[in-house]
Amino acid sequence: MKITILTLFVEQFNSFLNTSIIKRIIDKGLVEVKVVDIRDYSLDIHRHVDDTPYGGGAGMLMKVDVLVRALKDNQNPSSYVLLTSPKAKPYKQEDAYRLSKKEDLIIVCGHYEGIDARFEDYVDENVSIGDYVLTGGELAAMVVMDSIMRLLDEGISADSLKEESYTNGLLEYPQYTRPVEFEGKEVPFVLTNGNHEEIRKYNLKMSLKETYLYRKDLLDNKTLNDEEKKMLQEIINELK
Ligand code: ADE
Repeated sequence: MKITILTLFVEQFNSFLNTSIIKRIIDKGLVEVKVVDIRDYSLDIHRHVDDTPYGGGAGMLMKVDVLVRALKDNQNPSSYVLLTSPKAKPYKQEDAYRLSKKEDLIIVCGHYEGIDARFEDYVDENVSIGDYVLTGGELAAMVVMDSIMRLLDEGISADSLKEESYTNGLLEYPQYTRPVEFEGKEVPFVLTNGNHEEIRKYNLKMSLKETYLYRKDLLDNKTLNDEEKKMLQEIINELK
């Protein structure tokens, strides 16, 4: 997979791309990342990339001609173009799966008060990481890249992907490591006794409980099987 970032702040990507798992994924050759400075495509001697909006209004807009020049120089027929913007449905794990299948992804980082609206004609999809407004799209681009790149990593086992939050529509169950007791707080006994079926049931119930307590909306979108329905009823009774 290839990911190309078009940004005004190339340096913001340095530590992200050179740290830990993301660095390993790149070093393994699972993804090729290119970070492109949009300013290199300004024809202006002052390298301007923004201008005031027609009709007035606060702030500056990114210029369509500069953006399109940058895009066309880095695009090929299979490129799928994302634009970071608060103007989209919030990004979800299922989007990470879907986008991880693309061969060639371009992420354009929006900035200033916005971009010239004509640029939208060159974009396949706007991507927002949540219902709030950031100063620029770089953090959003890193969030999207991180969520996609980790799915490409063979180092993440199929089991851990299967169990993690959101993949099965539930939040992840709580996990514990040594010591077995800390300041009077003990690891639940069932997790220490080695009975795999009991552990599976306990973890599933805790997963349902976390989801019921913190993200009830996820349960509305999920079809529960008989075992899960029974456990959820138990949880509701226990919480009364
Ligand atoms: N740019 C500004 N706010 C954003 C958001 N919430 N998501 C993606 N890009 C943005």
